Amino acid sequence: MHEKEEILNNERILGDDFENNIRPQSFDSYVGQTDVKENVKVFVEAAKMREESLDHVLLYGPPGLGKTTLAHIIANELGVNIKTASGPSIEKSGDLAAVLSNLEPGDVLFIDEIHRMPRAVEEILYPAMEDFQLDIIIGAEGSTKSIKINLPPFTLVGATTRSGDLSSPLRDRFGIICKLNYYSHEELSDIIKRTSRIVGIDITDEAAHELAKRSRKTPRIANRLYKRVRDFTMVEGLETVDINITKKSLDRLKVDSYGLDEIDIEYLKSLIQKFNGGPVGLETIATSIGEEVTTIEDVVEPFLLQEGFVKRTRSGRIATEKAYEHLGINHTYSLFDTIEGE
Ligand SMILES: Nc1ncnc2c1ncn2[C@@H]1O[C@H](COP(=O)(O)OP(=O)(O)OP(=O)(O)O)[C@@H](O)[C@H]1O
Ligand SMILES: [Mg+2]
Repeated sequence: MHEKEEILNNERILGDDFENNIRPQSFDSYVGQTDVKENVKVFVEAAKMREESLDHVLLYGPPGLGKTTLAHIIANELGVNIKTASGPSIEKSGDLAAVLSNLEPGDVLFIDEIHRMPRAVEEILYPAMEDFQLDIIIGAEGSTKSIKINLPPFTLVGATTRSGDLSSPLRDRFGIICKLNYYSHEELSDIIKRTSRIVGIDITDEAAHELAKRSRKTPRIANRLYKRVRDFTMVEGLETVDINITKKSLDRLKVDSYGLDEIDIEYLKSLIQKFNGGPVGLETIATSIGEEVTTIEDVVEPFLLQEGFVKRTRSGRIATEKAYEHLGINHTYSLFDTIEGE
């Protein structure tokens, strides 16, 4: 498994208590994503008024922006149970049929990484989502028959980092489609202050803002960096997370002033220094820095693209002026350099 993912996963396992305590439980404590939140609130309210199950919801956006959190909040606010599954772990249609037939009326079924569900399994979902029906084939070859089982009304909440990878029949069956966006520094600063309050440690506004600025606009990263800064603070015997300890810790963690971490920097350096700024194909660049293509595409690039460090073109990735500037590499000089070297 890739290092960055591994870190995220370890964090989830080792820090389960921390994670559970700081994860918002209601719309009110879910910071930001205002448009999505306000709309979903209305749909939840209306479903409750009609005493119907909420329409199926698709949440998409880069990792760590709060899809899983929002799915749990939706179930909480509806006052129903949530059952969870993840796309790649549902291998056979029978697995999904079992999950579906265990649902209670109104339940939320949360399927994470829904784009990674095998196609045959996905097809079981179509009638389930549309008519709350399970079509299953029983019997051996030659004498099979299809039987229909009624399911209780339920809400499927699907999450994906890649809405483009979702088949259109599946996507079309979601009545509510929400795109989660990167967070502003102010929102992240609020999230960090909230986390610090829950943990019971004081943090200055300045320190919270510095952390926010360096968290790749992502709550998961903000909380993760907060945890590490808290460690440095405690070990130094300080009572408050202030700007000095924050800067010192982040420097030690090799998170730069823009929030770019070692992998981001390696990616940009490789693009600029090995490939003259591009255009270069995704696979080539992934290989050059020894990372998985999917990690680069799902975890590293979305932020770099959004912040304008990289451009995606037909012929490959290109480093922008901003990337050269950020790394302190002179653009014209490096062009000149290559011409000379030819
Ligand atoms: N809007 C928010 N307000 C406060 N905290 C948030 C918010 N969104 C996310 N978080 C925090 O960030 C962490 C990551 O969020 P979450 O696990 O929901 O992300 P995700 O989008 O499901 O990521 P992935 O795509 O990797 O599954 C959560 O532990 C939660 O505490
Ligand atoms: Mg998630």
